[in-house]
Parts: sequence; C-alpha cells; structure tokens
Amino acid sequence: MKFKLYKISIIILMISFLLNPDFSIAEKYKLSRFVSPEICGDCHSDIYNQWENSMHNLSQKDPIYLKLSEFILKGLTEKDEIAEAESCVKCHVPIGVVTGYPKKLSDDKSKIPHIAEEGIQCDYCHSAIGAEKKYNNDLKLDPGYGEDDPGIKRGPYNDSESDYHETGFSEFHTNSKICGTCHNVKHVVFNTDLETTYEEWEKGPYNSDNPKNRITCQGCHMYQKPGIPSTGSTKRPENKGYASDDGPVRDHVFTHYFTGASSYVHEKFGDKTKASMAEERLKNAASVSINTEQIKKGKLFITITNIGAGHFLPTGVTDIRQMWLNVTISNDKQKTFYTSGKPDLNGYLPDGTIIYNTVFGDGNGKPVVKIAKAREILKDKRIPPLGSVIETLATPIFKSEKLTINVKLLYRTAPQKLLDLVSGKDKIKLPIITMAEIEEKT
Ligand code: HEC
Ligand code: HEC
Ligand code: HEC
Ligand code: HEC
Ligand code: HEC
Repeated sequence: MKFKLYKISIIILMISFLLNPDFSIAEKYKLSRFVSPEICGDCHSDIYNQWENSMHNLSQKDPIYLKLSEFILKGLTEKDEIAEAESCVKCHVPIGVVTGYPKKLSDDKSKIPHIAEEGIQCDYCHSAIGAEKKYNNDLKLDPGYGEDDPGIKRGPYNDSESDYHETGFSEFHTNSKICGTCHNVKHVVFNTDLETTYEEWEKGPYNSDNPKNRITCQGCHMYQKPGIPSTGSTKRPENKGYASDDGPVRDHVFTHYFTGASSYVHEKFGDKTKASMAEERLKNAASVSINTEQIKKGKLFITITNIGAGHFLPTGVTDIRQMWLNVTISNDKQKTFYTSGKPDLNGYLPDGTIIYNTVFGDGNGKPVVKIAKAREILKDKRIPPLGSVIETLATPIFKSEKLTINVKLLYRTAPQKLLDLVSGKDKIKLPIITMAEIEEKT
C-alpha cells in the first residue's frame, strides 16, 4: 500500500513537471542566506556606488521591462506561450526565484521581498560557482548563511583577505561565461534564440586565443567609468585603487557600472552619470562612411562598421532595439530632396527605414511582437563585431547642383509605437542617440 502511494506521488510529480515547465524553478535556498547589497557596500563603497542604479540593480524596477512583460503575458491562451511569458523572473528577479518568490511573472509584485527587488546583486554573483547551460540563467550557487555567517565570496584574487567573509579565487568570475548564462536567452519551449550576446562574442574576434586580441565581457564592461567608455575602439586603462575600503591597493579594480545602451532608465532613477556613460558607449561603438561618386546617377553607398562592440550591433533584446540610418540630401539652398529614417511627429519611423534589428515570426512567416510567440526568426539584420555592412541607397537623379549629404546612425532602445501601446501615448519618451554621423558636400 505504502509502495503504491509512493509510486502515485512520483507519477503526480512527473505530470506536474510536464504540465508546468516552471516546476524546475523550485525553491532552493532560504531567503535569509543572502546578504543585502547595502551590507557589502559598508566595506566596498566604490563598487556599491557603481552598481547602485545599474541595469543589474534595476532589473526588476526598470519601467520598460515591467510594462513590456505585463503586455506580453496579457491575453495569451496557449500554455507554451504562457510558460515563456511567466519565465522572465528567472533573470530579472534571480534571488526571488532561487528563494521561492516570485515563481512566475504573474505573482503579486507587492509581495516580492525587498532584497529580491534589488535585482542582480553582489551576493548573487559572488556566490556563483559555475553554470552548465550557456543560456537561460543556469548559475549554480553556494551562498553563505546570512549576515552572521556570510560564507565564501568568490572573485578574481587569490591573495585576498577579509575579516568579515571568506574569500576564494574563482576562474569562472574572470571569464565571459558568468555573463553568458544570462546574456543568452532561449524561448523556454520553442528554443528560439531570443538574445545571443554571449554566442555572438564567443564566435567573434574578441574571443581570441591570442591574449593580445582577447577581450572578455569584463574587459570592456568592467573597465568603464565616467569619461572612459572602454570599448573596442577606445583605450581601456586599468583602474588602480582599492577593492575594499580597508584592503590593499590593486593594479586594477573591476568596475561595476555595467552600462550598455540604456540611458533612459538610469535617467529615470536620477543617475545622470550612468545615463551619459551609456551614451558615450554608443558613440564609440560604430563608424559610418559614405561614397558619393555615383550620387548624380542616383546611388549612394554607406558603410557601417562595428568598431567598438564585442558582439553584434545592436545586441540583447534586438526585437525591440532600433538602430537605423537617417539620410538627408539637400542642395545649397537648404532644400531637402531626399530623406530616409526621419521619425514622424509621433516619433514613429517611416516604412522603408534601413534598420538593424531582429524580427520574430509565428512559425508561418507572420511577424509577432510578443516574444512569447516567437517560433522562428524572420529577419536578423545586424553588424558583427569588427564587421561592416554596405548599404546601396537608390536616391533621386540629381542635376548639376551642389549637394549636401548627411548620414546619421541613430539608436533608440525601443520603438515609440510599442511604448505608446504598452504604457499609453507619450508616457515614456525615449531619447534618440546619434552613434555616428558624416556629412559630405559634392
Ligand atoms: C553581474 C554579476 C556581478 C554583480 C551584480 C556584482 N559583481 Fe562584483 N564582480 C563580478 C565579476 C565577474 C568580478 C571579477 C571580474 C574579472 O575578474 O574579470 C567582480 C569583482 C568584484 C570584486 C573584486 C575587486 C574588483 O572589482 O576587481 C569585489 C570586491 C566585488 N566584485 C564586489 C562586489 C560588490 C560589493 C557588489 C555589489 C555592490 C558586486 N560585486 C556586484 C561580478 C559581479
Ligand atoms: C567588513 C568589511 C567587508 C564586508 C561587509 C564585505 N567585504 Fe568583501 N572584502 C572585504 C575585504 C577587506 C576584501 C579584500 C580586498 C582585497 O583583497 O583587495 C574583500 C574582498 C572581497 C571579494 C574579492 C574576493 C576574491 O578573492 O577575489 C569579493 C568578491 C567580495 N569581497 C565580495 C563581497 C560581498 C558580495 C559582500 C556582501 C555579501 C562583501 N564582500 C562584504 C571586506 C568586506
Ligand atoms: C543573473 C543574470 C545576469 C548575469 C549573471 C549578468 N547579467 Fe547583465 N543583465 C542581466 C539583465 C536581466 C539585464 C537587463 C536588466 C533590464 O534592462 O531590466 C542586464 C543588463 C546588463 C547590461 C546593460 C544593458 C543595457 O541595455 O544597458 C550590461 C552592459 C550587462 N548586463 C553586462 C553584463 C556583464 C558584463 C556580465 C558578466 C560580468 C553580466 N551582465 C552578468 C542579467 C545578467
Ligand atoms: C570590445 C568591447 C566589448 C566587449 C568585449 C563586450 N561588449 Fe557589450 N557593449 C560594448 C559596446 C561598445 C556597447 C554599446 C553598443 C551596443 O549597444 O551594442 C555594448 C553594449 C552591450 C549591451 C547593451 C546592448 C543593447 O543594445 O541593449 C549588453 C547587454 C552588453 N554589451 C553585454 C555584453 C556581454 C554579456 C559581453 C560578453 C559576452 C560583452 N557585452 C562584451 C562593448 C563590448
Ligand atoms: C535568461 C535571462 C533572461 C530572461 C529569462 C529574460 N530576460 Fe529580459 N533581459 C535579459 C538580459 C541579459 C537583458 C539585457 C539585454 C539588453 O540590454 O539588450 C534583458 C533586457 C530586457 C529588456 C530591456 C529593458 C530596457 O530597459 O531596455 C526587456 C524589456 C526585457 N528584458 C524583457 C523580458 C521579458 C518580458 C522576459 C520574459 C518573457 C525576459 N526579459 C526574460 C535577460 C533575460
């Protein structure tokens, strides 16, 4: 009898696993095992200030994430699509997920514990011991037992000592893989590649065996500081200083700003420094050149090169990112003959704009806006690291007048049309950043 019950409960367990793919995200650790970032900040004050209001800190407070995730889940009826839409919390609220709440996106947000709301934080990354899967956040953790017994904090040093916590050298932390397990996202059921930043880097020129050419994620993103965008096309000087307020001087202390391309979110939280760091980064990512030899025959050649990013341009959530060409041709009397990629009064891009992004499809060739429905990739037009794309524009045939040709490469983290749809007209107005610009007169 007992044996039968045991068998039945195994079967029930298996069925619930099959019915609910989220079942694998079960509670593993007591919340009290994690130490809040403020405590780490008592001794690591510089690092704390860099991390505070970073996209990692804001991963669960970011208004764009909150609005978009809500929109994606709303109205779904198919269980596979719902499973994807519910899975966002695994990366955006990671301490919550490993300690049992929230389990899924639709769980009541007002009940998320304070520490989990602090996003991707010190004790989460520094308790990590490895990751098997290179996608969908498969970090394995070994946290301590809370404030009074914080356990081992792992990092890049093999000679580090702290009275408060044990320390340990971790090769994993010095490697792009720790970033890659979250910066590669696959649909939980359809396996569609939703984000591939790590893979783009892994297959790209910066993942080189030659130490002179090799730059890890940390090699760009953890060298940046105000005034130092630290991209592939700029200097990446060492940041000499203290890793802890009472530690020794170190030749390089890895910075924790983690700025990418999002300036709006930092600005929203009052952090102008990080907002301008993100803009500087975008301004040192690409170059644009033009060839006007055949302009009078109605042809303009534009070359865009990814000189600064260790991955494709753009990368990450490229189904919403917008990087596009804004072209204007005018004569010496300021009359404009031709424009392309000029936002209209609503801030929407006109049809025909040359845009670098990804478009997902429903499996039958029809574009979908919600990633939960992404069964295929219909379009992936982006620029690989150190790679170039040449565009040939058909322009009007010009007579003999003098022309001014202006080309801008512009960037916005999401389409205004989408934001108006998910948050109400003009509630969120994203800045448009000029990444590169060139002007030539014939
Ligand atoms: C997204 C993961 C992540 C988060 C969040 C994070 N760190 Fe780090 N941290 C790292 C990595 C990775 C390194 C080592 C980089 C390397 O060696 O290439 C590091 C290095 C360090 C070091 C060694 C000194 C240095 O900077 O070189 C200290 C100390 C440290 N972090 C403390 C903190 C504190 C305190 C916080 C929270 C305010 C924090 N970290 C948040 C990933 C993280
Ligand atoms: C009471 C002060 C104090 C507190 C609180 C503290 N640390 Fe440290 N930590 C230190 C000192 C001192 C070092 C050594 C710095 C060095 O060697 O340059 C250190 C080193 C580290 C290192 C480097 C380890 C290595 O071997 O590479 C990491 C990572 C780290 N701390 C993370 C944390 C995290 C995460 C927290 C919060 C859970 C935290 N620390 C809280 C004092 C502290
Ligand atoms: C636990 C998962 C996780 C890990 C580990 C992680 N990240 Fe992130 N990272 C995220 C999420 C989620 C966001 C986006 C938060 C948001 O926009 O709401 C993000 C944002 C960023 C951004 C800002 C992007 C922007 O649009 O401005 C950069 C840069 C970044 N991460 C770099 C790194 C690097 C470098 C590492 C490794 C040292 C790393 N991340 C490790 C999950 C992670
Ligand atoms: C050679 C320098 C370099 C390396 C290496 C590098 N990045 Fe970047 N990263 C950049 C630059 C420049 C930008 C800004 C342009 C852009 O958005 O792509 C950026 C932007 C980002 C963004 C924001 C993208 C967006 O548009 O939302 C994320 C996220 C990011 N990087 C993560 C990573 C991760 C993870 C790795 C390692 C797998 C990595 N980066 C390696 C230079 C680098
Ligand atoms: C495997 C980890 C992972 C999962 C799961 C995940 N994300 Fe993210 N998310 C990231 C990373 C990494 C970034 C940063 C990439 C970038 O900036 O382009 C990000 C960035 C974003 C952004 C951009 C925020 C901004 O301010 O521009 C949005 C929106 C977003 N995610 C929505 C979602 C939604 C909705 C889900 C669930 C359907 C989800 N994410 C699930 C890792 C994840």
